[in-house]
Amino acid sequence: MSEGLVELYPNHVASVVQRAERALAFANFDHLLIASGREQYRFLDDRPLPFVSHPPFKAFVPLTQQTDSWIVVTPGRKPILVYCLPDDYWHLPPAAPHGYWVEQFDIRVIRTPDDAAQHFPAFSDKLAIIGEAHDTVGVYRPNNPVRVLSSLHYTRSAKTEYELSCMRLAQSRAVRGHRAAEAAFRAQGSELEIHRAYLAATGHSDIDLPYTNIIGLNEHAAVLHYQYQRHDRPSAHRSFLIDAGAQVHGYASDITRTYGNGDSEFEALIGAVDLVQQRLCGKVRAGQNYPELHIEAHHLLASVLLEQDIVRMSQEAMVEQRVTSTFFPHGLGHPIGLQVHDVAGFHANEAGETIPRPPGHPYLRMTRTLEENFVVTIEPGLYFIPMLLAELKAGAQAAQVNWSKVEHLTQFGGIRIEDEVRATVGEPENLTRNAFAAA
Ligand code: GLY
Ligand code: MN
Ligand code: MN
Repeated sequence: MSEGLVELYPNHVASVVQRAERALAFANFDHLLIASGREQYRFLDDRPLPFVSHPPFKAFVPLTQQTDSWIVVTPGRKPILVYCLPDDYWHLPPAAPHGYWVEQFDIRVIRTPDDAAQHFPAFSDKLAIIGEAHDTVGVYRPNNPVRVLSSLHYTRSAKTEYELSCMRLAQSRAVRGHRAAEAAFRAQGSELEIHRAYLAATGHSDIDLPYTNIIGLNEHAAVLHYQYQRHDRPSAHRSFLIDAGAQVHGYASDITRTYGNGDSEFEALIGAVDLVQQRLCGKVRAGQNYPELHIEAHHLLASVLLEQDIVRMSQEAMVEQRVTSTFFPHGLGHPIGLQVHDVAGFHANEAGETIPRPPGHPYLRMTRTLEENFVVTIEPGLYFIPMLLAELKAGAQAAQVNWSKVEHLTQFGGIRIEDEVRATVGEPENLTRNAFAAA
């Protein structure tokens, strides 16, 4: 455990307790109960599904795989952690509570899930109970009050110092994987071999990953959320897109890099997207409207399409006529933290009213104006996706496209470059580039 985290944790807990009390006051409840979650099974099967603790529970304690446990917040009292430590000889039970986090809680160890009720406040309609229906204990059934959740989500966007430290560590961890993955690509590995090299270098198994790794060779780089890892080696390694993260104490990283293998046109395009990406990262500052940055990305990518002689239209016309959306069909990025796509990307306020996406941009996951210590991804890309190219070819702008160049680039799939950046009132902190530089 890094010294820094130990020192920062008490203030972090004070902040999350304060947020919980604020949510209770905002929604007029007296107590907050947060479930860690309960193991679930596959349909008609005795195989459990992979389990991870609910994010609002992880906000308090770094227990990422803790079942049947609860946080109880009552304003003015030390928070209670009901910690389920079952007698079980089929599975390894969790260790007795230990570590840098224990002193911040009034810990109650229970042996069976239903015993949690003994440590809850008397049942009343003044309890806000956060969880899924199957987390129910006796009469304590999750009710998930909308105003409590919207307040908790809203105040989670600005990260505490402890959270930022965890997120920096999650960057370094993923960067180790990215370097090993690039080496495995250079050694002509299969997607599965590259994936395994990534896991080995991060020390993660699949269940620890904050999302399924995207490991795309050649045309697979054009599949935005490519979900397989092929075990056979392709006949040529033309390109490699890796979108892969890591986690530390429940906090995620989400990093994408794209590599070529000697084709000058594709590598020039990677360089151009990288410059665009860094320019956008430089604008992650308190007060920056994120949708405006997304629109700016379209303009910058339009210049790349023009300069690289892929589309022969003015930058303005390309954006206005939505040609850039053929090549950049997703949002610029999203908030990140306890979840890779973190909550509250659309919150206009604590009540959870939403800020709509700009018309024509249905996949943007963040419409807020950035504030100090918000952490967002910046992930522009350019792709050659056959389905979208076919639509462009059938449309009014087809004659403005350099189809022979597009055809050449299609064999490389596409490019995405993704970093996490913290907004400050001054210079942005690029967590990802810092981690690569330190590696
Ligand atoms: N890895 C999914 C994303 O970049 O949003
Ligand atoms: Mn992302
Ligand atoms: Mn990603």
